[in-house]
Amino acid sequence: MDKQQLIKEFINVFGGSEEDVRIFASPGRVNLIGEHTDYNGGFVFPAALTIGAFVAVRKREDKILRMKATDLEGIVEANLETPDEYKDLFWGNYQVGVAVELMKDGIEVSGFDMLYDDNLPHGGGLSSSAAIEVSTALVFTTYYNESKGIKDPVDMIYMAKIGQRAERNYCGVNCGIMDQFASAMGKEDHVIFLDCKDLSYKLVPLKIDGYKIVIANTNKKRGLADSKYNERRSECEDALAKLQTVTDYEYLGVIPTDVFEANKNVIGDEIKIKRATHVVYECDRVLKSIEALNNNDVLEFGRLMNASHDSLRDLYEVTGIELDTLVDESRKIEGCIGSRMTGAGFGGCTVSIVREDMVDTFKAEVEKNYTAKIGYAPSFYVSDLGDGGREIK
Ligand code: GLA
Repeated sequence: MDKQQLIKEFINVFGGSEEDVRIFASPGRVNLIGEHTDYNGGFVFPAALTIGAFVAVRKREDKILRMKATDLEGIVEANLETPDEYKDLFWGNYQVGVAVELMKDGIEVSGFDMLYDDNLPHGGGLSSSAAIEVSTALVFTTYYNESKGIKDPVDMIYMAKIGQRAERNYCGVNCGIMDQFASAMGKEDHVIFLDCKDLSYKLVPLKIDGYKIVIANTNKKRGLADSKYNERRSECEDALAKLQTVTDYEYLGVIPTDVFEANKNVIGDEIKIKRATHVVYECDRVLKSIEALNNNDVLEFGRLMNASHDSLRDLYEVTGIELDTLVDESRKIEGCIGSRMTGAGFGGCTVSIVREDMVDTFKAEVEKNYTAKIGYAPSFYVSDLGDGGREIK
């Protein structure tokens, strides 16, 4: 929906006039490489997309959030005087969680009428939740700052942290910072090289002349993803605790590969050694990827993406038949120089680098072959790299 349509729909749903309706947006993300490294203090390399969450809002004089999504029936209401009642909402709990975290920091959140228009696949691995969290945090904070006469621009890294806190404390997913950071801080045509141990970052222009980023969705229902995600996290924490008995590294993601090799047996447990091996080498691959891009070596970048997926499949074990089939079928197509899962895994999306003149063939062939093996079709997204959270004026 464009801006005018969204405002019109807002008036249809909530009534009133257009003057006091404003629109905010925050995008989804695709991670090019560096998976399951963020909560290990390692490196990630995500980019914001042009698709994401758009929200039309009007402030209310009470403490009620009235929330509607363009693709969902009915209005969800939450009273911010009693926010703990809404943790199990089928939709709307991210928004309440964001309000709760801001209020903990002394930021007053008023009621709002809010109409969300989200063009990301829900639970599809492109961070639809982070897009909702960051856009919502931006709405609440913008109105609060204005009410207090605060003129400074909203601190977008803080918005990312609020989104992550909402997801962890309110929604029970112990996620890292990558998704919210990319949604808040993305920049058109750039990828974010983020060091998760201290949130230092660089915007790297994506130079892959002659190639396109193609995102494909397995369309698998995610199921137990959240509990498995939390399980991987604690396996990493256990591995680190053992390594810390013989080294003094604060995070798994900062351990050099040679130090890791010399000490990994102290971890003791085969599975945890595999998890830690993935993390340590994945961080190394992120550094090599940036070097490859700097050297205009797209082919090397693609090889590193392939190695990343193989490690997520064999060592971290977060792929599954749908993601592996999609990646295998993608790599078979001429002109596809790298393909891997992106996001948490267990379903969701892959990201591939495909020669521009082969994109249509790629989509047609991968769709045919994936469907023949899995029994239902994948979907494709062609999105440019866009800007992070902002008000749309
Ligand atoms: C999810 C989490 C991120 C990150 C990825 C895996 O998207 O929200 O914090 O851990 O999985 O890289």
